[in-house]
Amino acid sequence: MAIISTAGLARTFQTKRGPVEAVRGIDLTVKAGEILGFLGPNGAGKTTTLRMLTTLLAPTGGAATVAGCDLVRDPAGVREKCGYVAQSGGVDPNISVREELVTQGRLYRLSKAEAAARTEELAAELGLRELLDRKCAALSGGQRRRLDIAMALTHRPAVLFLDEPTTGLDPAGRADLWDLVRGLRDRHGTTVFLTTHYLDEADALADRLVIVDHGTVVAEGTPAALKERYAGSAGASLQDTFLAITGRGPAPVDATPVAV
Ligand SMILES: Nc1ncnc2c1ncn2[C@@H]1O[C@H](COP(=O)(O)OP(=O)(O)O)[C@@H](O)[C@H]1O
Ligand SMILES: [Mg+2]
Repeated sequence: MAIISTAGLARTFQTKRGPVEAVRGIDLTVKAGEILGFLGPNGAGKTTTLRMLTTLLAPTGGAATVAGCDLVRDPAGVREKCGYVAQSGGVDPNISVREELVTQGRLYRLSKAEAAARTEELAAELGLRELLDRKCAALSGGQRRRLDIAMALTHRPAVLFLDEPTTGLDPAGRADLWDLVRGLRDRHGTTVFLTTHYLDEADALADRLVIVDHGTVVAEGTPAALKERYAGSAGASLQDTFLAITGRGPAPVDATPVAV
């Protein structure tokens, strides 16, 4: 069953220098419980698509449903069903991990007791138990990402959107995050829609890939099927496959994400 489905989803920004067609019409479906890798070069329209699917940005064209809720007619329904971790996470450095999680729970209208209980559950699930009384400023990059994800899971969303969740993490931190994402899907059936520019990550983690360029979908399929189709064999590297599809490499690995 499709938990996300989009038809011609589009967003044009009006700028001083004229219109920018960031997303030109995306058609995709995501099955419940799938880990979908949303790949594309810098500027392809990935973040804009995620911001639309999480109701942070209104589409200028097309339609979409997320967990049965129409993006435009029922944005509150969509927000209830999805969690979102933005490209550059936003925790307050001066408060503790516990305070951050409790505050998030209260934002979702949990009582004080419920917010405290949910904080304990999330800390256990995301390996943050030992860190609950630490200030956010004192967390490592990987710990901070886990806190971002814990906050996004407060209301038990069916779909979790992660925008470049492992950018800037060391290899061990990335591997931890992969295990965490798989665990969420396996234990709770959470659908995970993630963008990344690490092709090894997409290869290791995603059940299916959707590759976008210039605001449209240019290829989609399992990593093996894409390799076979575009690079000649299922054993080809995803790097060569990506190059064959887009004519260029993904974003440089040390690129600083541009906040837009
Ligand atoms: N608020 C905005 N105003 C104008 N242009 C924007 C805005 N947000 C994004 N864009 C442009 O839209 C295109 C897609 O951006 P984005 O969705 O961030 O790409 P990606 O996440 O794939 O790197 C880029 O050309 C970007 O400069
Ligand atoms: Mg982006």
